[in-house]
Amino acid sequence: AASRPLVAGNWKMNGMRHAGAELLAMVEGYDSALAARVDLLVCPPATLLAQFAATAAETGIAIGAQDCHSATAGAFTGDLSAEMLADAGASHVIVGHSERRTLHQESDALVKAKVEAAWRAGLVAIVCVGESEAERRSGAALEVVAAQIRGSVPQGARGDRLIVAYEPIWAIGTGLVPTVADVEDMHGTIRRVLGEVSGEAAAMRLLYGGSVKPENCDALLSARDVDGALVGGASLKAADFLAIANIY
Ligand code: G3H
Repeated sequence: AASRPLVAGNWKMNGMRHAGAELLAMVEGYDSALAARVDLLVCPPATLLAQFAATAAETGIAIGAQDCHSATAGAFTGDLSAEMLADAGASHVIVGHSERRTLHQESDALVKAKVEAAWRAGLVAIVCVGESEAERRSGAALEVVAAQIRGSVPQGARGDRLIVAYEPIWAIGTGLVPTVADVEDMHGTIRRVLGEVSGEAAAMRLLYGGSVKPENCDALLSARDVDGALVGGASLKAADFLAIANIY
């Protein structure tokens, strides 16, 4: 497992400027004792990136984006390049979230191109993978996720530039979570498949995501090969987000 856990918050399409107060509460709660044990990352909507980066500067809380385009610049109306996100103060970017794969038809090949774009801009890429409910029921979950890793992660990925988040689609926003045994099976498989493309797989951080809450995070985040969490809904409130980080 990686040396330091990471608790990352994905705010999705939530958050107006006044949500800066919630980030301030996170900054206040991220004291030196907590900072000694765990890294924190907040990924607000792009409209709040610069504001959040300014608030979090020198606090140790990292700020990330939720998606990027695969190109550096150009005629791509409405899109944002990794360079722009870095310029706004992001150090990380989530790519290939299931909501992008499903609602925006993003393929493994496109996700891989976005990871490369993130690296060009100096960002850490958080690649999301995960099976659907039907794939889990049919017993195909491990092979589906292994294929997503092989398709989405570029050769030669460095341990300090790549994070993988395993998010079973059926667990996102539903309150359902997999068993610890299933999470351990999946994370072990992910780390093994990462070893095919990178010599640094052992040091990579593998996050679990999907209905992580203060009430259920203890068992999930103590599971073997789990190096932290990608938290959706519960990352919007400082008290919940800090409670999750505090299990470390
Ligand atoms: O990226 C975060 C995930 O999709 C999890 O969302 O914690 O609201 O289930 P959730």
